[in-house]
Amino acid sequence: MIEKIKLNIKELIEQTFSLEGVIVEEPKKGHADLAIPLFAYAKLWQVSPMVVYEKFFEVLKAYPSIDRIEFMNGFLNIYLERNQLSKAILNEILEKKDLYGSNQVGKGQTVAIDYSSPNIAKSFTVGHLRSTMIGNAIKHIYRKCGYQVIGINHLGDWGTQFGKMIVAYELWGQEDEVKANPITELQKLYVKFHDAEQEDPSLEQKARDVFRELELGNERYLKLWAWFKEESMREFMKMYELLGVDFESFDGESFYNDKMEAVVEEMAKKGILKVDEGATIVELGENFPPALIKKSDGATLYVTRDVAAILYRYHTYDANHFMYVVGNEQQLHFKQLKMVTDRMGYHFNVEHVNFGLVLVDGKKMSTRGGKSKRLEDVILQAIDEAKEAIHAKNPNLKNQDEVAKAVGVGAIIFNDLKNERHLDVDFNLSNMLKFEGQTGPYLQYSGVRIESILKDQMMKPELLDPKYLAEDHYFEVIKLLASFPSVVLRAKETSSPNLIARYALTLAQGFNSFYGKQRIIVEDEGHKQTNLIFAKSIQIVLNEGLRLLGIQSLKEM
Ligand code: ARG
Repeated sequence: MIEKIKLNIKELIEQTFSLEGVIVEEPKKGHADLAIPLFAYAKLWQVSPMVVYEKFFEVLKAYPSIDRIEFMNGFLNIYLERNQLSKAILNEILEKKDLYGSNQVGKGQTVAIDYSSPNIAKSFTVGHLRSTMIGNAIKHIYRKCGYQVIGINHLGDWGTQFGKMIVAYELWGQEDEVKANPITELQKLYVKFHDAEQEDPSLEQKARDVFRELELGNERYLKLWAWFKEESMREFMKMYELLGVDFESFDGESFYNDKMEAVVEEMAKKGILKVDEGATIVELGENFPPALIKKSDGATLYVTRDVAAILYRYHTYDANHFMYVVGNEQQLHFKQLKMVTDRMGYHFNVEHVNFGLVLVDGKKMSTRGGKSKRLEDVILQAIDEAKEAIHAKNPNLKNQDEVAKAVGVGAIIFNDLKNERHLDVDFNLSNMLKFEGQTGPYLQYSGVRIESILKDQMMKPELLDPKYLAEDHYFEVIKLLASFPSVVLRAKETSSPNLIARYALTLAQGFNSFYGKQRIIVEDEGHKQTNLIFAKSIQIVLNEGLRLLGIQSLKEM
């Protein structure tokens, strides 16, 4: 609502004075509600800022939502008419509930978002974990903006590494061991293959041949491959269940096996293929390495499968915006994907949503291999520690396990999403599980605090008395509530869940500092009702912010 007023004021000034790019800002606490810096126009018109102020004042003085206008230090300061505005904002939140902040900018448009996408028979890395959580949040944010969103887990279930896996398994594998601990054991086999390859270079060729056979449909190999996949999926699904993440599609790389020939033919028809030392490539100009479409033995590659996948998504889902939540190291790959499809004449919107590393004590976190921890165990440990903390705080709490899961997982998710995604994330369980500071538990706890206030109270919205809301300690928070819709939009435009995370923190802090100054259950019924509605509105928006991030809100903890 305040956004709208800002925009109206901006347009009013721009139209009246034939200006462009007029800035209407929201100054920090304690000053006016809105302000227009005047110096630029003073300079433009060769007059003093005071003269500009007077001109603008004449235009704005009749604007209904403005209470008063003042000149200060070269700024035109606007104080809004707080009573009606506050009432309108709270009513809108109460009425729309979790739909508050939604918009329809994406109506009729479909976005395909590719996230998580781990590799079968290899460990789920911290990179995949980041991708999972960032992708899941972006999916929610896009949906809130009216888009149809297809979440796709592009499983890494095809490629030369399966040749290696099969060779390794046939040489050294034990069925019962793999069954007991699929990913760890398969990973071990893979590592063993690499070591053995140093000694015996012929193994590499063997693996290639086996993969080629696999592509051609060798039954024994296909069976092994399907089994590796099944065992790995079981582990991945446990992780997704813990994280509360789901996908519309698990069509991974192998899904495109029978779709690639047609794609390669289409490229040939469009005249963009070249044969170079037996391999088939698409040239991408002087500054780019060519995209390798087929090896000399005819085997396809990662990029070939991605071209097939993007065309499939385009035709199947009618999507024209394709997002890939994948680490920085694949930047070149997605540039090539975009360039190849451009050369095919498609001009898709290909967005590589990249992100930074996960650090432990300043060093890159590793969960690969046998020695270091499996990610699932790290998540389970967070849940355990959350359970201890909760038990210490509230020993009588019912369903402690459920709450601990929400808090432990929420802590990890929030820690990941609170900073800009391209920055590295510091992974420290005890820090992220604190109930104070910039943590998931702090946000959940703030919501619980509001819940405990509201629990035994009857709400009577008709008794809301806006005069209280005009007081500074209320109005600061009301302005924050009013800004939620524009925060959602900005988070969508920049694929930045951290904007929602920061917003939720500021809102929780806003409530907590309000609550430090103001009793909610007061004698006067109108005042009490106003407080309850105010607190309820904050809870609604806070919980919706958490939902967008993929974090569960709680009633008790
Ligand atoms: N499986 C790949 C990896 O773990 C990520 C796949 C990303 N998605 C895609 N369409 N290329 O590195």
